[in-house]
Amino acid sequence: MNIKINILPAMLVMGLLVLAACGGNSDTQSDAAQTGAGDQSEAAGGLSPEELEHGIGPIAAFDPGPIDAALAERGAELFRVKCSSCHKMDGRYVGPALGKVTQERTSAYIMNMILNPQEMITTHPEAKKKFAEFLTPMPNQSLSEDDARAVLEFLRQQ
Ligand code: HEC
Repeated sequence: MNIKINILPAMLVMGLLVLAACGGNSDTQSDAAQTGAGDQSEAAGGLSPEELEHGIGPIAAFDPGPIDAALAERGAELFRVKCSSCHKMDGRYVGPALGKVTQERTSAYIMNMILNPQEMITTHPEAKKKFAEFLTPMPNQSLSEDDARAVLEFLRQQ
């Protein structure tokens, strides 16, 4: 009799926890696939699914639309000046290869990494992983949002 009374609320709580966990996961499955983040809550580092997918910084999720060749050309020059000392399209350099980064990260993630690298590498689990691998903190190159958008366009063209 006592056991029954004690177990029921405990089971109810557990049921709710399972429900909450499942609800969260089904929402974030595609985000996790895109960022490579696991679906365990420790792997999320306390970030929302939105932050996991799109990074932390001034840029919210957006659809970049069809590639704008003129914008990409402006981005190519910015990339040469501000990024090519550390990044190549193929192969590891001071930082990771970026030739396929637009397949691995969302547009907002990439722009937030450009505009807010310090916070990204200290709080975002995926960026932290890269930092642990490359051991050089990506510097903030002081690009404007428009310039970061142009660099993104160049990367999308690769
Ligand atoms: C001083 C070297 C350096 C410069 C300059 C630099 N980066 Fe990085 N970048 C890195 C390193 C190293 C990492 C890996 C994370 C870390 O260690 O901070 C990285 C990570 C990244 C990532 C995340 C890649 C991934 O797979 O998650 C992107 C995107 C990126 N850089 C883009 C750029 C762009 C665009 C520029 C130019 C505006 C730039 N970086 C300038 C060193 C640099």
